Amino acid sequence: MNKHRVLTGVTTTGIPHLGNYVGAIRPAIRAAAQDNVESYLFLANYHGIIKCHDPAMIDESTRAVAATWLACGLDTERTTFYRQSDIPEILELNWILTCITAKGLMNRAHAYKAAMDKNIAEQQDPDFEVEMGLYSYPILMTADILMFRANDVPVGRDQIQHVEMARDIAQRFNHRFGKELFVLPEAKTDENVHLLVGLDGRKMSKSYGNTIPLFQTPKQRQKAVNKIVTNLKEPGEPKQKNESPLFEIYQAFATPSETVAFEQALNDGLAWGEAKKILSAKIGEELDSKTDVYNDLIANPSRIEDILQAGASKARVEARELLAQVKDAVGI
Ligand code: ADP
Ligand code: TRP
Repeated sequence: MNKHRVLTGVTTTGIPHLGNYVGAIRPAIRAAAQDNVESYLFLANYHGIIKCHDPAMIDESTRAVAATWLACGLDTERTTFYRQSDIPEILELNWILTCITAKGLMNRAHAYKAAMDKNIAEQQDPDFEVEMGLYSYPILMTADILMFRANDVPVGRDQIQHVEMARDIAQRFNHRFGKELFVLPEAKTDENVHLLVGLDGRKMSKSYGNTIPLFQTPKQRQKAVNKIVTNLKEPGEPKQKNESPLFEIYQAFATPSETVAFEQALNDGLAWGEAKKILSAKIGEELDSKTDVYNDLIANPSRIEDILQAGASKARVEARELLAQVKDAVGI
C-alpha cells in the first residue's frame, strides 16, 4: 500500500487547553491511527524560542506538551514522536536551505509582518525590532518538513503560507541541483475542525485568557467551568443554546443524541448552575483517566525523556541519510 507521510509540529510555548485538544490533539490522534498513513509529530522547541524568551516556560511547556500527547493516546509505535532539538540535522539543513532561499520570499511572510503591524498598532516599544529567528522562521519550518519527506502537513489556516514556502524552496533546490531530493509538501487544513469557544464566547486561546485547562481535578474543572458566561435567566426560565458558550463546549464532548437532550433541557428551563455541573462531568468522562496518565508522566519525567529519545533515534536515522545526500548535492 502506498503510505502517505503526514508530519506536524507543535510549538512549545504554552500548556495545552481544551481548544487545543478539540481542534488539534484529538483529531490528529484519530488521523494517525489510520492504516494508510505514516505519521511524524514533533515538539517544535526551536520554534518556541522565536517568540518566548522565558526559559522556564519553554522547558515546562515542552514536557507538558509531550505528556499531553502521550496521555491522549498517541501511539508511539506508529507515530515517530520527537523533540526538534534532538535532531541537529534539522539545523544543518536549515542553513543549507537558507543559502538558496530568496530574501524576497521571506519579505512576504505573514508572521513577521503581523508582529510589525501589531507593534505599530499598539505603539508598544520604540526599540522594537524583528529578530532574525522570526523573519526566517519559514525556513526552519521548511527544514522540519523536507527532512522527513512529508507529503501532507496538517496545519491551521495561519500556517498555509509557510507550507507553500516549503514547497517553493523544495522546488528551487531540486531544480538548482538537478536532483529530486525533496518531496513537495502540501498543507492540509481540516474544514470540519471545530473551533472551540472559550469562557467568554470568543475562540478559546491562551492570548485571550479565556481557556479551560485540559488536565484538572474534577473540583478545579468545575471551578473553571463555572466561569463560563451566561445571562441572568432564572432556573425554570427557557434558555436558548446560543445564550452561553457552554452549549458549544458540551457539544464538543457529547454524542449527537446527548447534545439534543441537553438543548431540550435548556429549553425546558435547566438552571445555568445545573448545566455547568452536567458540562463539567461530561468533560470529565473523556478526560479524567487521561488526567491520571498525564499526572503520572509529569511526576516521572524520565519516562517522557525515554520515549522522546527513542523517537529521536528513529528519526535521526532518516535525517542523517537525507542530510548526507543534500550535502553531497551542494558539494559539502
Ligand atoms: P492558542 O490560540 O491558545 O495560542 P495555538 O495557536 O498554540 O493556541 O494552537 C495550537 C493548535 O491548537 C493549533 O492547531 C490550533 O489550530 C489549535 N487550536 C487552538 N485554539 C483552538 C480552539 N479554540 N479551537 C480549536 N482549535 C484550536
Ligand atoms: N509553526 C507551526 C505553528 O506555529 C509549528 C510548526 C513548526 C510546524 N514546524 C512545523 C507545523 C512543521 C507543521 C510542520 O503552529
